[in-house]
Amino acid sequence: CLPLCVPGSPLLLFANRRDVRLVDGEGVRGESAIVVSDLEDAAAVDFFFEEGLIFWTDVSEEAIKQTPLKESLGTDQTVVVPGLDSPDGLACDWLSKKLYWTDSETNRIEVANLDGSSRKVLFWMDLDQPRAIALNPAQRYMYWTDWGEEPRIERAGMDGRRREVIINEDIFWPNGLTVDLEEQKLYWADAKLSFIHRANLDGSARETVVEGTLTHPFALTLSNETLFWTDWQTHSIHACNKHRGDKTREILGGIYSPMGIQVLESYRQPYIRTPCSDNNGGCSHLCLLSPVPPFYSCTCPTGVQLRADGKTCKPGAEQVLLLARRTDLRRISLDLPDFTDIVLQVDGIRHAIAIDYDPVEGYVYWTDDEVRAIRRSRLDGSNAVMLVTTEINHPDGIAVDWVSRNLYWTDTGTDRIEVTRLNGTSRKILISENLDEPRAIVLDPVNG
Ligand SMILES: *[C@@H]1O[C@H](CO)[C@@H](O)[C@H](O)[C@H]1NC(C)=O
Ligand SMILES: *[C@@H]1O[C@H](CO)[C@@H](O)[C@H](O)[C@H]1NC(C)=O
Repeated sequence: CLPLCVPGSPLLLFANRRDVRLVDGEGVRGESAIVVSDLEDAAAVDFFFEEGLIFWTDVSEEAIKQTPLKESLGTDQTVVVPGLDSPDGLACDWLSKKLYWTDSETNRIEVANLDGSSRKVLFWMDLDQPRAIALNPAQRYMYWTDWGEEPRIERAGMDGRRREVIINEDIFWPNGLTVDLEEQKLYWADAKLSFIHRANLDGSARETVVEGTLTHPFALTLSNETLFWTDWQTHSIHACNKHRGDKTREILGGIYSPMGIQVLESYRQPYIRTPCSDNNGGCSHLCLLSPVPPFYSCTCPTGVQLRADGKTCKPGAEQVLLLARRTDLRRISLDLPDFTDIVLQVDGIRHAIAIDYDPVEGYVYWTDDEVRAIRRSRLDGSNAVMLVTTEINHPDGIAVDWVSRNLYWTDTGTDRIEVTRLNGTSRKILISENLDEPRAIVLDPVNG
């Protein structure tokens, strides 16, 4: 039995900004148990029951994190997806073991494996303020809300195909969204219009469930017969009968800041075989469920193209733009139309200025004016080292000689142009006279 479970009462998992908690869904205990504490800004939650994992987004730490669900709750937590901006919505695909999330700052919807690997941008256009996201893996569809200029609910295949708007009238701040897998209905809460509505999964046969009594509903979830939602104004979790909207009651009050909520029960994640169950569908990277025959798609990490076999991915992006952005470095693949920027996972970047690349060994070289160093790392940010750290002042220009394997740079502090081997050895001053503020530098190795 999980902490706080009460026979016959569903267990609720919810985020409370500073922690993630559990509470029994009948409010019998009248108290909640902390799953993880000392968080900055936990917003959306979801879980993978079979493997006992809880996931949440932290919009201050700009990450998706994970903790094991155990009888004794602890503070164990791991970052699974770093480098996000504002991950407001999160959903776990328990059939093909994926995380889907929305980011209202980058205006993207992304997917990755449960450990964060093979991260892929699914949608990057026509998103304004995407928030809640819900999955129906058996039907291979995803649903999300957008509370931007043109508020709406959209759906698409879980591989990104067949995107369509299903609700765009009588909608203002669609916050909460959940799928009733048994009855194949979509429920959503609107915080401005103060109602909970439901419709068929294609948006048809819309009807009111609760109206008039709501203040500021945020997230929504359901068990067999009961709808649960968090409310920012009452600081409570509320419940009602999902069919008629009656039997409205408060499950837990006095919550610091109730955010995302899920009914944490195994029957919310029924197992069926999918085309991705066997050998990952033959895909080298992501196998995503699809409503389009053969009902799955092989997909590659962001910026990487799929080979003509439709199954395996190229080793990496072929054309890449590298960008020094003062406190981080980013790479943008030019192979695919989304041009998503990916942050290189390198620590200690303070004031990166100049950047260049050696295609032979695959290293990125850059200068840092505050650290006063020339550094290099792999394209994914690994193997980061300092190459030159002495007698370096304002190294504002850098250039790789990929033929003779040397590195040239300018320094507007020492007013010199210098060179070393690509590993930082055999340093030599080339020009130190008649330079005032040398900055940009390029090489033409072929003509010397
Ligand atoms: C909900 O339905 C599932 C599957 O039908 C069942 O196993 C479970 O006991 C039910 N839960 C409650 C709280 O009624
Ligand atoms: C640096 O590179 C040069 C030329 O490739 C090589 O001869 C030398 O051994 C390297 N030194 C170190 C310390 O790796």
